[in-house]
Parts: sequence; C-alpha cells; structure tokens
Amino acid sequence: MARLRLGVLISGRGSNLQALIDGCAAPDFPAEIVLVISNKADAAGLARAKAASIPSSVISHREPGFEAAVGDALRDAGVELVCLAGFMRVLSADFVAKWRDRLINIHPSLLPAFPGLETHRRVLASGATETGCTVHFVTAALDAGPIILQEKVPVLPGDDEDRLAARVLAVEHRLYPQAVRLLAERR
Ligand code: GAR
Repeated sequence: MARLRLGVLISGRGSNLQALIDGCAAPDFPAEIVLVISNKADAAGLARAKAASIPSSVISHREPGFEAAVGDALRDAGVELVCLAGFMRVLSADFVAKWRDRLINIHPSLLPAFPGLETHRRVLASGATETGCTVHFVTAALDAGPIILQEKVPVLPGDDEDRLAARVLAVEHRLYPQAVRLLAERR
C-alpha cells in the first residue's frame, strides 16, 4: 500500500520531527515525510531534515501571505497529513478548515488541561502530580481538537521545568509516530 505523505511543520529544535523521521525509517511504517517547513530560518530541525535527505523550506511568518505559501508548498508536495511538531504559530481558522482532519499537533500536557504556552511551568505551579502529552486534531480553538492519543507522565518531587520537559518529551517521541501510524492505517 502507498505510504501516507506527511508534511511536518517546525519552529525549532525538531526532536519530534526526528522521532517521526526515525519512525518512518522502519520498513513497515505506513507513512513517509515528503516535506519539512520551518517558519524560522535558524530552526535546528532543518538540519535533521537535511541529514535525512528530506526536502525542506523556510517560510517566514513575517512574509505577507505566509499561510497561503505554506498551503501551496504542502499541496505541491502532495502532502496528505500535516504534523505540527513544535510549530509555535497559531494557524488561522481558514487554514485549519482547509486541512480539516488532515492536520495534527503534539502538545506537552494532558489536554484539555494546560493548553497554550509555558506548559510545564504552569503544571509545576499548579501542584499537579501527573501530566503527560497529547496528539490531537487541530481545530480553530487552540489545543482543543479531538484527541487521537495521550499518555500520562508523573510529576516527581524536585522536578524543575527542564527535568519535567525531558520526561514528557521522551513519551512524545514514542506517541507521535504511534498516532501517525494509527491514522495512516485508518484506525
Ligand atoms: C515539544 O515538547 C512539543 O510538544 C511542544 O514544543 C516542544 C517542541 O520540541 N509544542 C508545543 O508546546 C505546542 N504548543 P521539538 O522542537 O524538539 O519537537
């Protein structure tokens, strides 16, 4: 069966992009990354795409027509599923509607708890004893679309933001390829 064509949108480090690259490297994985787009020219994740010989482009969110250019690039590459991976821009309701059911995101909390930015700082401040990560469909409401997969991660005594982020990230790296597999297999 043809592999599902993924476009991955990043803004930074790209460790979730790397997890998807590594997932796609398995011979039986039902998806492949055909394009990486970064809204930042200095995103470290771009080097990961290059190392994996995946075409990438930089489209700055400061350019007029940013979203139209992103949409055009995704369509030109024949992308069937868009994966946001540390992509730190909010997409318009119009863009989201065009990619309805074909646009997913990973967020480092147990949504609907702690949507938005500075997630781990807020989790620690709340005194919560567990957090987690969530892969969900993107809708016009921020971090509120239908959940595909989520997994709990404990908050441990003595955690700071970095320690907690690292523990959650390790789970993100397993969860994101798993969610892509489910969608690619139409499960
Ligand atoms: C990840 O923890 C991801 O869940 C989070 O940013 C990090 C990106 O890391 N995304 C959000 O907070 C989205 N609102 P990465 O660039 O190494 O994948």
